[in-house]
Amino acid sequence: MEFIVYEQKGAYGIITISREKALNALNSAVLDELNQTLDAVNLDEVRCLILTGAGQKSFVAGADIGEMSTLTKAEGEAFGKKGNDVFRRLETFPVPVIAAVNGFALGGGCEISMSCDIRICSDNAVFGQPEVGLGITPGFGGTQRLARLVGAGMAKQMIYTARNIKADEALRIGLVNAVYTQEELMPAAEKMAAGIAKNAPIAVRNCKKAINDGLDADMDAAIVIEEKLFGDCFETEDQKYGMAFFLDKNKEKVKEPFKNC
Ligand code: CAA
Repeated sequence: MEFIVYEQKGAYGIITISREKALNALNSAVLDELNQTLDAVNLDEVRCLILTGAGQKSFVAGADIGEMSTLTKAEGEAFGKKGNDVFRRLETFPVPVIAAVNGFALGGGCEISMSCDIRICSDNAVFGQPEVGLGITPGFGGTQRLARLVGAGMAKQMIYTARNIKADEALRIGLVNAVYTQEELMPAAEKMAAGIAKNAPIAVRNCKKAINDGLDADMDAAIVIEEKLFGDCFETEDQKYGMAFFLDKNKEKVKEPFKNC
C-alpha cells in the first residue's frame, strides 16, 4: 500500500490515510487502497476501527482537486460513486469505526468522518464543505449525511456558504462528540476503541446495525429491526456468559473476555 497504513493492535485496528504532501487528499488510488484495507481487516479478531490521517496538520483535506479538475460529467458521476461506495462500506462495516480527526476535515474529509460511527477531534481540527466555492456540490455523501447529523438548517448554511468551522463549533453543533489536544487525541481514540472492544462483539455489531437500519425506517419498522437483532443475541455464548456472570453472586470471580460467538 502506498497511501494507507493499517495496524492491528489487539482487538482494534487503526487505519491511517497517509498522503501527507497533499494533506491526505483522496484520489482514486487512496480510495482503492481504503477498500482493499477494509477487505483485509480480520473480523474474527478486530472489534473496532479507528480512522485517522497522517501528520499533525490534516485528517483529510478533501477529494483530490487536481484529479477532479479535468473530469467530464460521466467521469464526475463515476468518481462520486467510487467515493460513495467506499464510504458506505465504512458506514455499514460490521464493527464500529471511530474517526479521530486530527486537523483539516474539508469536503471529502468531512464526508469520510461522517461515514464513521463516532467522531472525535483535536483542537486544531477544521470542518467544512467548501465545494460550492470550487463549482461543485459535495459529492461523497455530504449533502445527505451532514443534514442527518446536524439538522437540515445548519447543514444548508455550512454547504451554501462554504464556511469552515473550528473544533469548538463542530462540538457545539454535534458534528463531533469531543475535542482533545493533539497529543491526547489518539490515546483517547484508542481508549474508546479498547472500551468498545471489551464488550460483547456480536451485541455491539447488532447495535450498529439496529441504529443504522432503524434510522432509515419508520418507527414501527425500526422497532421490529431492533427486536430481531435483540433476539439474535440470545443465540450467542456471549449472552449466556454475560448474564450468568451477573447472576453469579461470587464477587471474587473475574470477568473473562467475550468470545465473539
Ligand atoms: N486536493 C489536492 N491537493 C490538495 C488538496 C486537495 N483537496 N488539499 C491540499 N492539497 C495540496 C495542496 O495543493 C498543496 O500541494 P503542493 O504543496 O504541491 O502545492 C499541499 O496539499 C498543501 O496544501 P496548501 O499549501 O494549500 O496548505 P495550506 O496550509 O496553505 O492550506 C488548506 C490548507 C486550507 C486545507 C488548503 O490546502 C485547501 O483549501 N485545500 C482544499 C480543501 C478543499 O477545498 N477540499 C474540498 C475538495 S472538493 C471535495 O472534496 C469534493 C467531494 O465532496 C467529493
